[in-house]
Amino acid sequence: MKHLTDSAVVSTIAPVRVAILGAGRGGTALLDLLHQIPSIEIVGITDRDLQAPGIQRARDLRIPVTDQAEELVRTHGLNLIMDVTGDPAMERFIQSHKRPAADVLSGSAARVLWELVRHEAKLQAELFHAEKLASIGSFAAGIAHDINNPLQLIMGLAENLAEETDLKTVHEQARDIVEAVRRTSAISRDLTQYARKTSARDDAMVALNGRLDEALKIARYATSFHDITVRRDYQPDVAARGNQDELVHVFVNLITNAVHAMERGGGTLTLATRMSRDGVTVSISDTGCGISPDISGQIFEPFFTTKDPGKGTGLGLYNVKTIVTKMHGKIDVESLVDRGTTFTITFPPATETPS
Ligand SMILES: Nc1ncnc2c1ncn2[C@@H]1O[C@H](COP(=O)(O)OP(=O)(O)OP(=O)(O)O)[C@@H](O)[C@H]1O
Ligand SMILES: [Mg+2]
Repeated sequence: MKHLTDSAVVSTIAPVRVAILGAGRGGTALLDLLHQIPSIEIVGITDRDLQAPGIQRARDLRIPVTDQAEELVRTHGLNLIMDVTGDPAMERFIQSHKRPAADVLSGSAARVLWELVRHEAKLQAELFHAEKLASIGSFAAGIAHDINNPLQLIMGLAENLAEETDLKTVHEQARDIVEAVRRTSAISRDLTQYARKTSARDDAMVALNGRLDEALKIARYATSFHDITVRRDYQPDVAARGNQDELVHVFVNLITNAVHAMERGGGTLTLATRMSRDGVTVSISDTGCGISPDISGQIFEPFFTTKDPGKGTGLGLYNVKTIVTKMHGKIDVESLVDRGTTFTITFPPATETPS
């Protein structure tokens, strides 16, 4: 298969070497943002408290941590010192210890930068939600179908009950009615859970097989699985660190794209998970129309879609990539026109057990 890796452009210019002082909320936000930018190298992060959240995050990202600010500030070849400690004494400390070539960003400039980072994160979250709500618009037909089946059953049973005299049969049918009502309320529960805003709860180890199954259930409302065979090829206990609502959102997007690609003629959807020492992979494959090489470079761009006007937002894969990058993972695509497509997500190796 032709490999259409979505690799980052390798910069030939030397990276800007940055040190972060302060590992509270500001330092953590900066770390998360800067580490995604290839032209920036984070030399290290420091905090007096080695339990601070940014220190933990830096360890996960294999970025050097220290509680000795002086050592970091004096680092040879440092271009920029970002001070988000909020401590006025720190500014004087930096000025007296830093090398002359290093620039300093501190005080209100650092605060403004942090506000911008937070603002961007808020916009991003709103964009995810807008795209999710737009996709829910297409659920109507699926929901109507799934609710209609138990409703028809309830109707039939209730009609029978009106004439039934045998008490044992009455009890049996009443039980069937309760079961059918449970099924319809499960549908509305799944969907309202999916539609709500992503919870702001902290990242945790998320068991991926369960999230894939949940996404499959949601995707069935979004699109018709007519003539589509689903294969699940899971390795047990595969987990990655992230936000579970966001992960379900990622998988729903990839599954619906795969099913749309097989709209004509059906095919096979394969969901696979693997875990190795190098990391955790989730792959979602279809045997659909494939992606032509002339558009493969654009599919992750916001608003890029080949769907008819009004059918797709073109934000699906853009949001998928943003979430995966935030989780320190990467996404690759392999595709052949008229043969099919595989999206593979690779997350860093799991270090904890799933909750
Ligand atoms: N599995 C796939 N097979 C073939 N083409 C794909 C596949 N996944 C994505 N694409 C292509 O990438 C484009 C962008 O996908 P993306 O999910 O970002 O938006 P969309 O699916 O068009 O719109 P929306 O997600 O809002 O419904 C699609 O329009 C399609 O051309
Ligand atoms: Mg899509």
